Amino acid sequence: MRDHLSSMTSRSFRPDVYQLSKALALTTTSFATPHIVDGGQAAGAPTRVDAPLKVTGAAKYTADHHPEGLAHAVLVCSPIASGRIVSLDVESALRQPGVLGVVSHLNAAELRGAPAPSWPDKPEELLRRPDHGAGLSLADTTVRYAGQAVAAVVADTLTNATAGAHALAIEYAREEAQTLLAAHESEATEPQTGQIPGGEPASSTRGDPDKALASAPVTIRATYLSPTAHHNPIEAAATIAQWVDGKLIVHDANQGPHIIAAALAGAFGLKKADVRVTAQFVGGAFGCKLQLWPHGYIAALAARLVSRPVKLVMTRPQMFTAVGHRPNLIQHISLGAERDGTLLAIKHEAIVQTGSVDEYVEGCVGRTRTRYACPNVSVKTRLAHLNLPAGTSMRAPGKSTGSFALESAMDELAAQLAIDPIELRLRNFADVDPETGRPWSSTALKRCYEVGAARFGWRSGGARRGGREGRLLIGYGMAAGSYPRYASMATARVILHRSGKVVVETGLAEIGTGNPTVMPQIVAEALGVRAADVELVFGNTDLPFAPQAGGSRIVASVGRAILLACDDVKAKLASLASSQPGIENEEAHTVLSRTGTESIEGFGKWEPDGSTPPSVESNAAHFCEVAVDPDLGTLRVRRFVSAIDIGRVLSPVTARSQIIGAVTMGLGQALWEGTEIDERFGRYINTDLGEYLVPVNADVPAIETIFVGEPDPQTGVLGAKSAGEIGMVGVAAAVANAVYDATGIRPRSPPIHFDMLMKEGLIL
Ligand code: MOS
Repeated sequence: MRDHLSSMTSRSFRPDVYQLSKALALTTTSFATPHIVDGGQAAGAPTRVDAPLKVTGAAKYTADHHPEGLAHAVLVCSPIASGRIVSLDVESALRQPGVLGVVSHLNAAELRGAPAPSWPDKPEELLRRPDHGAGLSLADTTVRYAGQAVAAVVADTLTNATAGAHALAIEYAREEAQTLLAAHESEATEPQTGQIPGGEPASSTRGDPDKALASAPVTIRATYLSPTAHHNPIEAAATIAQWVDGKLIVHDANQGPHIIAAALAGAFGLKKADVRVTAQFVGGAFGCKLQLWPHGYIAALAARLVSRPVKLVMTRPQMFTAVGHRPNLIQHISLGAERDGTLLAIKHEAIVQTGSVDEYVEGCVGRTRTRYACPNVSVKTRLAHLNLPAGTSMRAPGKSTGSFALESAMDELAAQLAIDPIELRLRNFADVDPETGRPWSSTALKRCYEVGAARFGWRSGGARRGGREGRLLIGYGMAAGSYPRYASMATARVILHRSGKVVVETGLAEIGTGNPTVMPQIVAEALGVRAADVELVFGNTDLPFAPQAGGSRIVASVGRAILLACDDVKAKLASLASSQPGIENEEAHTVLSRTGTESIEGFGKWEPDGSTPPSVESNAAHFCEVAVDPDLGTLRVRRFVSAIDIGRVLSPVTARSQIIGAVTMGLGQALWEGTEIDERFGRYINTDLGEYLVPVNADVPAIETIFVGEPDPQTGVLGAKSAGEIGMVGVAAAVANAVYDATGIRPRSPPIHFDMLMKEGLIL
């Protein structure tokens, strides 16, 4: 790994010394070296620094904490999808053994102003948001969706709390619920904010797509459906809350402790400094732990009610209604093209399910504006407010679903024109950002096509690429993906000790992306020290503000704050070295000991400066081979190759892990994942891991990842672009396109189950 990193930089790595002269010269990374990092070889690279803690069970997750005097809360969730609570008999629960209290609308009035469960793009501004939503869960008697938390029972043990929750008598008046997206498509309205997460317009037009479509020699018009889907991290949502002298102390499984603290402070009228939130290790999140959901407020209320620390861990079924989901979607795409495949027009409309009071916008259309060099593009997003929980971001939100539609449609166009799908994409390649006309900060998407196709053994040409292998139908499919770069205000402290140890402190959460491995590398490179001598201290609000681990933004945000903090350390070191004669050129530890200094502390704050950021996209090209057995009715992904452009790869081992995890989620999106609803009751029905299918090891082939990007000089963080989510974008389309290649049947409504192929005429 060190070899790799040093080959990426213009200066060599000197592992064992803090050389002052070196530390003072902030050498710039060389951006000239073209490189391919083979993710497959990353297994030989150093392991993640937190791996031993995780595999030995020493890493502590939220529910592993047991403060003295701990009581337990269990949520009570509404069985009706619409209506109101007529009566709630607190005594019915209080009569049960061990029950200490009941939290409900009867004693939760302050939640009326609690912030909405939609995550802010400027997390530091969360406190200023005037809207509400999460708190509505308990703020009045209204029931807006099945599974809404309407109460929590607190008891001395989990068993007693569970029994108390079952005993709590609630009478409901049920009203008719609207839960079917297709039935409400026509009345869906554009989002009030006019935006998708990230700040792009929810609807926009360039050129005249209607006119261009009307006169286009070739058109494709298709509708793609995406089911409701759930994140399903293995660590359930959990909060432990405790009040000490009017201050709120919280352990919480989340993607950003500072965001959770801000939300709690807002709800309870506290100063943010009086809320301490810890999220040390987080067992998966994928977006469902970005913001504070009702259970977090409820745990804090429960702790105050019983004057004890209270632990609230959600059950798996509760995870399906209380922490968001990827919403049910309808997407309409129209493409108009010349006979040679040149795109003349793209129209993309998404109709997104959301809750009755919330406005989560799945930003399906965002990348459609930038994907291809097409003069006439219109995108539109409409929301259908239904009696369902609020949706939220789920890994590569909008990009995973939007790319499924657009990249399927491109495959349909390629098939209709008998043009190779890669060739079609190259003919419409966006050399510059087609929305702004400005150049990309960097793009290696053509390299992704080239290197991925070579590794996969893509058979180019217009005809079908698969064929038969015995009775198996083999299909090859490919698709592209892109992911923008998000960044927001972040701070960090870097402390250089005389002993040679360096500590970097920042209040981020580690959800599995590899921060304890990557952040020390950033410090090591900036200061010219060994990464092994740098320790990341993270995961609570005593540490400097960091945004939520969402939108693949941590390196782009916190990474920059760390670089600024390193600059500060170096400036202080330089001034120390010039304070005494004869030590100007000494190593750092000599300067520190000769001046009697124990440590030097640097602070860095990065925030967007208001200028227009460059057009930055991470890119992917995915290649998939499927085998369909028409006799046995099986559909297997046999091979998967992903060529990825994330600029410079800071850490091959964690980057590879992000990509194979993301591809696996994309395979889930394509083939297994979908939450079914019973329309009669407006309830999700497959709310456990037995019935909600996620890919398991036996479903997933070895995923080959190849990084082909070059260090991007404009990203501001050592040439790195976003890495966490790009791996998922385009995967579902690559699988669907491979299924089409194998069977001639076009899957437009994943998950692609075999019964769909049978219904479409594939004979068993
Ligand atoms: Mo990710 S869905 O931005 O947590």
